[in-house]
Amino acid sequence: MKSMQIMPNNLKRQYDLHAEEYRAKVCEVLDSGWYVLGREVVTFESEWAAYVGTAHCAGVASGLDALIIAFRILGIHEGDEVIVAANAYIACVMGITINGGTPAFVEPDEYNNIDVTRIEEAVTPRTKAILAVHLFGQCCDMDAIREVADRHSLYVVEDCAQAHGNHWHGKRAGSLGDISCFSFYPSKGCGAFGDGGALCTNSPEWDAQARVIRNYGSERRYHNSVVGMNSRLDEIQAGLLRVKMRYLDEMNEERCAIAAAYNAGISNPLVIKPKVRPGADSSWHQYVIHVRGGKRDALKEFLAQRGVGTIIHYPIPPHLSEAYRYLGFGSGSFPIAERAAGEVLSLPMYNGMTAEEQSWVIESVNAFEG
Ligand SMILES: Cc1ncc(COP(=O)(O)O)c(C=O)c1O
Repeated sequence: MKSMQIMPNNLKRQYDLHAEEYRAKVCEVLDSGWYVLGREVVTFESEWAAYVGTAHCAGVASGLDALIIAFRILGIHEGDEVIVAANAYIACVMGITINGGTPAFVEPDEYNNIDVTRIEEAVTPRTKAILAVHLFGQCCDMDAIREVADRHSLYVVEDCAQAHGNHWHGKRAGSLGDISCFSFYPSKGCGAFGDGGALCTNSPEWDAQARVIRNYGSERRYHNSVVGMNSRLDEIQAGLLRVKMRYLDEMNEERCAIAAAYNAGISNPLVIKPKVRPGADSSWHQYVIHVRGGKRDALKEFLAQRGVGTIIHYPIPPHLSEAYRYLGFGSGSFPIAERAAGEVLSLPMYNGMTAEEQSWVIESVNAFEG
């Protein structure tokens, strides 16, 4: 049988596209003698804020830290509830619970994002915020989210980890909420070559607080106003992000072309292809299909035999994970999210993917008979 080894994601290909520039930047930072919170970080922060469309950006060490700091700034603590999609990544929930808050889960819709028609029923007197997680490279319905939030005086936090460069009705993801959180984990759209994250906001006070919290709670060296964290973006990552972000729009377009090829070519009736919500665009952070009839695992195995690697985003919804057993949810609590966990499959999607590789993925998906 013909086989072709295709990884679900191939970061080396993406690196190879601009390898010389990345290497030169690493040497430049090494030669500078300054490695944490320096010129590269300051410049990246202003470039990223300008790209996103917010007044401020504070670099931190990871996407999870950005969420933890955002909810801390908003004063989320024990007894407070934050609304979040039940199919979100578990780090989204951790950002809430590490501050003592409680997640109020809401089922996802056909676009794999929070079902905005169900948000209202999750609001209680303890609700403080809505976390809009733009999953798989597509914005949530931000108009509907803002409308419910305004009606109940709730904060809107965006999780843009998977939506670098996305838009909602022409406005960039990250500029639509009160605070937005980014991860620069290597697999993300503008991925670093290690960990990294950022918070974006139009509030100078919140930006200042983020900067204090990320650096041991100190504004001035050895003067600590609050108990902070060590969550700093280092100079090498910031420098590399500055190089990568120059190619972000181009890389998103390339993934759109791959998604278009998948959309046109995949015709297996067992497969439901991803939909894009009117008003949103997709950067195709992932190309996530749903597989009907309980056949997802069989398709994954079938593709593996043909050398096609796939990933399940995500096999266990947060409310059923061991970490959140204490919340007391059982199986059947959020049936739509639970069904999705058994159906979703992310096909290979990466910059530098060849036409031959794309064709082999399509041919293999279509060859599966269940
Ligand atoms: C939607 C979402 N939120 C948050 C995170 C956490 O980011 P990090 O891995 O940088 O902590 C991720 C990353 O995997 C993510 O996909």
